[in-house]
Amino acid sequence: MAVENPRDAMCQAIQVTPGKAHSARLGLEPTLAPKRGELGLKVLLCGICGTDAEIERGLYGEAPPGEDHLVPGHESLCEVEAVGEAVTGFRPGDLVVPIVRRPCPEGCEPCKRGRWDMCLTGHYAERGIARLHGMLREHLTDDAEHCVHLPPELRQVGVLVEPLSIVEKAIEETMVVQSRIGIPPRRALVTGAGPIGILAAMVLRSRGLAVDVLDQRPVDSPKAEIVRASGSRYIDDRTQPLEESAKDVLYDLVLEASGYAPLVFRALRRLGRNGAMVLTGVTAGHHTIELDVDALNQEMVLENQVLLGSVNAARQHYEAAVRDLAAWQLSLPGLAERLITSRHPLAQFEAALTKDPDGIKSVVEVAAS
Ligand code: BGC
Repeated sequence: MAVENPRDAMCQAIQVTPGKAHSARLGLEPTLAPKRGELGLKVLLCGICGTDAEIERGLYGEAPPGEDHLVPGHESLCEVEAVGEAVTGFRPGDLVVPIVRRPCPEGCEPCKRGRWDMCLTGHYAERGIARLHGMLREHLTDDAEHCVHLPPELRQVGVLVEPLSIVEKAIEETMVVQSRIGIPPRRALVTGAGPIGILAAMVLRSRGLAVDVLDQRPVDSPKAEIVRASGSRYIDDRTQPLEESAKDVLYDLVLEASGYAPLVFRALRRLGRNGAMVLTGVTAGHHTIELDVDALNQEMVLENQVLLGSVNAARQHYEAAVRDLAAWQLSLPGLAERLITSRHPLAQFEAALTKDPDGIKSVVEVAAS
């Protein structure tokens, strides 16, 4: 049954002008009642990542067609306020996470099959990133079919579902590659102890792999402590460079999450026979390195190695993220919460973009939950 949204009014939102650096401001956006098939949502939390920083610097992002601004924010946790006609399975008070990417208008084969993360045309829309407003706003409406349901016990950590969905897809892709051998991978290296890297270590440990996580913070830093609490080994690349610390170790799986492209080629050399490496960092910049490409080519061929890139996530990966976060509430209590290292009000969105080398995930508290 349709429930009317009492506030057909305006709400506070962050707005940016894509392509223009430091244009973020607090503005007003319409709060609409949900139409047929839609949910009216209150945004509780919105996580901030490197993509948001690039949008704020004017390097990335696109406004919805016909508009001059974009509401950023794609990692959110929302609460259902109102349920549109013909929606089943959702009630006011339920926790949901809207999926970021939406199918392309052409309806390419992968988009038609719900694999918009593999869109062939590149004309997909991404909430808060490209051609569709995001969640740095108090209220929004969205199609119920693009919302993922969360159990109430994920209220504290549900904002991590979107970044974890990226990890779930990247690991699934790598496992598909590794399934050609018939032996599950045993040793993994994760480069970068940011949210993606730590979440990846948590997933890989849960799947029984021995995991090393490499970063550039000291061994007694908060990041290193969280890595160890996940059951992984922490390596400070500055004091124990990878080539020394893992001299006798070759990895079956490497997940790159530092976003520092030159590290890709160092880590690639640590891959063992039949190993697969997956890249998840969207790197900005134009780093160049000198590389013995013959040695790299020979090693990759003679050792059946695979290098793959992975972006975005489909519904199945959001659902896997929900399952893993719920399981960790029991197996690793309190650990996922520790990834959220700073909280900011909506009006101070820019403070959430400030880089703290010991910080992991900054979130904007859009509404007090
Ligand atoms: C988001 C993805 C998105 C990618 C590229 C990432 O920050 O998490 O959903 O596909 O940026 O726009």
